Amino acid sequence: MNDLKEMKKKLEALRAELDRHNRLYYQKDDPEISDSEYDLLFQELKELEETYPELATPDSPTRRVGAEPEAKFAAVEHSVPMLSLDNAFSAGDVLDFDARIKRFLGSNEPIEYLAEPKIDGLAVELVYENGRLVQASTRGNGFIGEEITANVKTILTVPLTLLARKDNPFPERLEVRGEVYMPLEDFGRMNRERAEKGQPVFANPRNAAAGSLRQLDPRVTALRPLNMFCYAVARPERLEAETQLDMMGLLRHWHLRTNHPELTLCRSVDEVLAYHRDLESRREELGYEVDGVVIKVNSLELQARLGATTRSPRWSLAYKFTPAGGETVVEAIDVQVGRTGALTPVAIMRPVQIGGVTVTRATLHNEDEVLRKDVRAGDTVVVQRAGDVIPEVVRVITEKRPENASPFVMPVNCPVCGSSVVRLPDESAHRCTNASCPAQIKEHLFHFGSKNGLDIDGLGRKLVDMLVDRRLVSSPADLYSLTLETLSELPRMADKSAQNLLEALNKSRTTTLERFIYALGIRHVGQRLARVLAENYRDIGALRQASVPDLEVMDEIGPTVARSVTAFMENPGNQALLDRLTGEIGFSLTPPSGPAGDSVLSGKTFVLTGALSAMTRDEAKARITGAGGKVSSSVSRKTDYLVTGADPGSKAAKAAELGVAVLNEEEFLKLFNG
Ligand code: IVH
Repeated sequence: MNDLKEMKKKLEALRAELDRHNRLYYQKDDPEISDSEYDLLFQELKELEETYPELATPDSPTRRVGAEPEAKFAAVEHSVPMLSLDNAFSAGDVLDFDARIKRFLGSNEPIEYLAEPKIDGLAVELVYENGRLVQASTRGNGFIGEEITANVKTILTVPLTLLARKDNPFPERLEVRGEVYMPLEDFGRMNRERAEKGQPVFANPRNAAAGSLRQLDPRVTALRPLNMFCYAVARPERLEAETQLDMMGLLRHWHLRTNHPELTLCRSVDEVLAYHRDLESRREELGYEVDGVVIKVNSLELQARLGATTRSPRWSLAYKFTPAGGETVVEAIDVQVGRTGALTPVAIMRPVQIGGVTVTRATLHNEDEVLRKDVRAGDTVVVQRAGDVIPEVVRVITEKRPENASPFVMPVNCPVCGSSVVRLPDESAHRCTNASCPAQIKEHLFHFGSKNGLDIDGLGRKLVDMLVDRRLVSSPADLYSLTLETLSELPRMADKSAQNLLEALNKSRTTTLERFIYALGIRHVGQRLARVLAENYRDIGALRQASVPDLEVMDEIGPTVARSVTAFMENPGNQALLDRLTGEIGFSLTPPSGPAGDSVLSGKTFVLTGALSAMTRDEAKARITGAGGKVSSSVSRKTDYLVTGADPGSKAAKAAELGVAVLNEEEFLKLFNG
């Protein structure tokens, strides 16, 4: 009884964890663990549920697909659910699959399969009506996906109209499925460009593709190098095709992009295994990321007879590749401190060759990850690299654990400054509580003077290290008390460079409000949000007073950012810093151009609905914020004006109910002209 209770708890924990990873992967496009680590967790849950069927639940991740669609996109119901695939990790798994199918069919004849690369991107459905692309959506939870039509239309190889052919006309309605991905070369180039511009880089091509496609602004998607392979159709029985391969031929004739030369007809399961070996050896030459082979029963009639479970078709299987891995020993677990004070455990390992690269370190992310894998100093571990992604510790070989190896404990004091460390309730990271921790100070100072910050020429990493280590500077404000004398005493600091630095510092006091906000290094506030805050508040004093609800009124600002801004402003150390910078040091901050605070629009909250004819919605937003107003996405008591374009929708009713002033486009434009 107790055992069963324990097991129930364990299953619940595993499900919750998988659900969390599903959300990170499918909704946030920002996974915390590698795909193969996910696969391991998934297999563990699946096996336990098979051993304890009484503990299985209908909503387990083993019975569902993907994650809930995000509310920021319109919902699209798939007429036929978009399923996932069962995974195989060994030839034995594939032979079992083949045997299962033969048993189901009651026949021992070899089965014909179509084998093809499993593309590592995201599944998309295209709907063509009378040959015209009318809708595109993501898989979502399998039943309901996210509408991304405008974004998909920017992919050059996705036809907007199908090519009609006399010999094989397309059906009135065609629902084609496929994978949108980013080619490796384009991914590399895009990431290099982003790094140069100081923008965050994508962890891998899959996240880059998903992040690019799940954008609210199709103009962003259009700039991203995306491509698509089609591989399936909903209700193939409506087509003039007997096999999967025939069907793929039809798609190609209609000008849909297929992965044709790779589609490999296998007369038996042995040929499938041979194709898997062959593709794995050519994996690096394909130009796109592939994580295995997809095997499909070729006959469409057999497919229909085999059917599907709630999660995956019985006629198809994903036979995954083994990730490039190796074994080594963890010599120590170091803890590093970043700019935001986050402590990151890092495994320091005996050097090991993996896929031609010597690996000596692997991030362990955070405490939960170390404890989940139970990595200890002295352990022998399996390390893995997928593509050119950062190495990861996959698992510990516990049989090889030395007797004296003790579990990892997160330090209670910061390894750099010794201050206490906290873990906030909804975070996985531990943070050093000391805002003047040298590790944090250095990162802060460097950020403060960086190109996109206050652009202080000469304030590089080496100088920052020296200034902090010699205790000459412990806050950005201290920079402005530096003298020629102190600076000239530093090693390798010529009088001329010292003079230049002082001039750069002096100059930096006259700057724009948005640069200043960005330079403060508030968590989650990058350049774009710094601009949004500057446009809406126009004055640092006003921003210092903002409350969470005030901030959340802005479209771009969610609860996390709002809380981060207010927490920063409430911190006594930061208050002293701002007092000094804007007081005695004499910063002069220019708000973004546009009429100043006395405009009729200033401080007013607008909601836009329906299509405007004279400008796009983004232009309208820019004009409002430029004039000192704010834009919100939903009508509430705080709304001052609802601006209605064509087809206004439900917001107009809400405004009437709350007595909010409603302006048509003409009236709205008049506001700007006084
Ligand atoms: S066929 C009923 N073929 O893998 C499922 N899927 O892990 C039909 N995928 O959701 C899918 N390459 O996003 C198929 N050549 C391929 C694929 C492929 C990648 C993806 C697809 C699917 C996921 C399952």
